[in-house]
Order: sequence, then C-alpha cells, then structure tokens
Amino acid sequence: MKPSGSSSGGFFVGAVQDSVFNLFGTQFPLFAAGLSIGERKMDLGGIVAVVTGGASGLGLATAEMLKAEGAHPVLVDRDGAKAAAEAGRLGADARELDVTRAADAEAVMADIVASFGAPRLLVNCAGIGPAKRIVGREGAMPLDDFRKVIEINLIGTFNMLRLAAAAMNDLEPLDSGERGVIVNTASVAAYDGQIGQAAYASSKGGIVGLTLPAARELASRAIRVMSIAPGLFATPLLLGMPDPVQQSLAASIPFPSRFGDPCEYASLVVHIARNAMLNGEVIRLDGAIRMAPR
Ligand SMILES: NC(=O)c1ccc[n+]([C@@H]2O[C@H](COP(=O)([O-])OP(=O)(O)OC[C@H]3O[C@@H](n4cnc5c(N)ncnc54)[C@H](O)[C@@H]3O)[C@@H](O)[C@H]2O)c1
Repeated sequence: MKPSGSSSGGFFVGAVQDSVFNLFGTQFPLFAAGLSIGERKMDLGGIVAVVTGGASGLGLATAEMLKAEGAHPVLVDRDGAKAAAEAGRLGADARELDVTRAADAEAVMADIVASFGAPRLLVNCAGIGPAKRIVGREGAMPLDDFRKVIEINLIGTFNMLRLAAAAMNDLEPLDSGERGVIVNTASVAAYDGQIGQAAYASSKGGIVGLTLPAARELASRAIRVMSIAPGLFATPLLLGMPDPVQQSLAASIPFPSRFGDPCEYASLVVHIARNAMLNGEVIRLDGAIRMAPR
C-alpha cells in the first residue's frame, strides 16, 4: 500500500485527505497521487484469473487473452473435458464445475486457492440462452424451464461472485489499493429482451441489478464489480444458427454490421481489470444494436 499523497498535493489536499480518511475510516487516499501510471492499473502478470464458461466462446477468448497478458487463467466449466483440453492448449488450468451447485463451487474455489492462490479476477461467462415463449403451442411455459435459466445465468453468477469475493478478501491489496475485480456477463437482452427471451432477459436483468449493490458492498473490501452486456457475438451459440438467420442478425447491427469477435469482449475484460475507476457499472458492447421485439 502506498501512503496518501499529501506530500505531493500540498497542505490543503493533505488536510482534505486526512479528513476523508477520518470520516470514512478508509485506508485509501482520496487521490491516487504518488502512484505511477503503472501502479495505478492492475498488473495482470501472474494473477490467478477464474473464468467460468471458460471452455467456449466469450469465456475461452477471455482466458486466452488473459494468458497472453501473463495471467494464470483457470477455466471453470461444466464441460470438464473441453475445459481441460482448452486449458492444455493455452498452458492454463481447468476445473469441472456446474456453477449452480453451492457445495461443489465452494470445493472448487477452495481447491483453486490451495493449488494456485486466491483469484484477483473472476470473469463470469457460464450461461445458456434458450428461447421459449411464455405461452407456446403446448400451453404455458413449464416453470422449470424458466427456473433453469435463472439458476444457471443469475444464481450461478452470484454463486461464483460470493466465493471469489470471499477469497479475494484474504489477499493483500495491490499497490493500486485494490484486492480484486469481478466481471459478470449480462446481455443487451436485459434491456431489449425479445419475444421468447422472457427467462433469458430476466436472468440478465438480474445481473444488471446485482452489479451496483455488489460493487457498493464490496467497495469496503477494495473489490470492484462490473458487468458487460454484449450484443451479438460470434460464438457457438450464434454460429450454430442457419446462415440466412446469421446474416439478417448481423445486418441489424448499425456499426460495425457484423457479429462481435469474442476477442473484443476479452479486451474489454482486460481493460476493466486494469482501469480502477470502472466500478458498479454495466457496459453495453453491441455496435449500437437495439434489439427489435422479434
Ligand atoms: N454470444 C453472444 O452473442 C452473447 C450475447 C450476450 C450475452 N452472452 C452471454 O455470454 C456468456 C457466454 O456465452 P457464449 O456465447 O460464450 O456461449 P458458449 O455456449 O460458447 O459458452 C458458454 C459456456 O458456459 C458453459 N456452461 C453452461 N452452463 C454451465 C453451468 N451450469 N456451469 C458451468 N458452465 C456452464 C458451457 O459449457 C459453455 O462452455 C453467456 O452468459 C451468454 O448469455 C453471449
């Protein structure tokens, strides 16, 4: 931890810093004066980064970019075989986990901490995106269909967030003052959910709602919480659709009129990790798309 920057800010700044220090009992300087640019941002070199959904799509691209930045990614996925194969290719590690399971997630997080150290970064990418109408040809949507999407996308995200935050809390703060960062994956469907997306949009809306209170609460532990709301990205989820559907979806994106590349999502994760002023916010990453009702 760096001392507060009163020497470089003069008496007045020092006094204000001291009063803020006393008022809130915080150990962080009001200004990051005294820190070099390098010290202000999280150094990803050697940090443990847990990436859920790391076996595929956005999570896999993120793990790959984090590895290239010198971090130690741990790919956590319910598809343990794929996660292990991708981790082997990247020179990373993997753990099999269904993120909805409380006790299993506790055991996996404990194992990660014991094996590699507590994570400085959690990226929640595990998720599913099935479409189903509230009232379809067979009548009302089975309640378990709705429950399953909430269970994986929202409760699974919270499950990993709570465990990562507790593990990060045991870490010493970095020079920048922070202990860790959590990045969740919402969706533009949280704002412009389409017909058939009642369950998916609800789960992603839950992640949007979670972001600020989690950031506010974990601020006292120097842990930031952010979410990304992607538009349409070229992952197995979308690339499995017929070509004409893909083309019409891509054409609906104002600019650039193409699917996002998963590495564009990954580079936002890296930026969020490094930029300590980003906290408690959801960033749309969508080429200005606003989804139509259907
Ligand atoms: N691709 C897009 O256009 C897009 C847009 C908006 C939001 N998202 C969100 O981004 C996230 C990643 O999506 P993607 O496109 O990379 O999908 P993907 O299907 O390529 O990857 C999702 C991964 O999550 C894993 N997973 C699913 N359920 C799990 C569970 N219960 N426990 C552990 N792992 C589980 C899968 O095995 C898979 O490896 C999802 O939350 C999705 O809703 C994607």
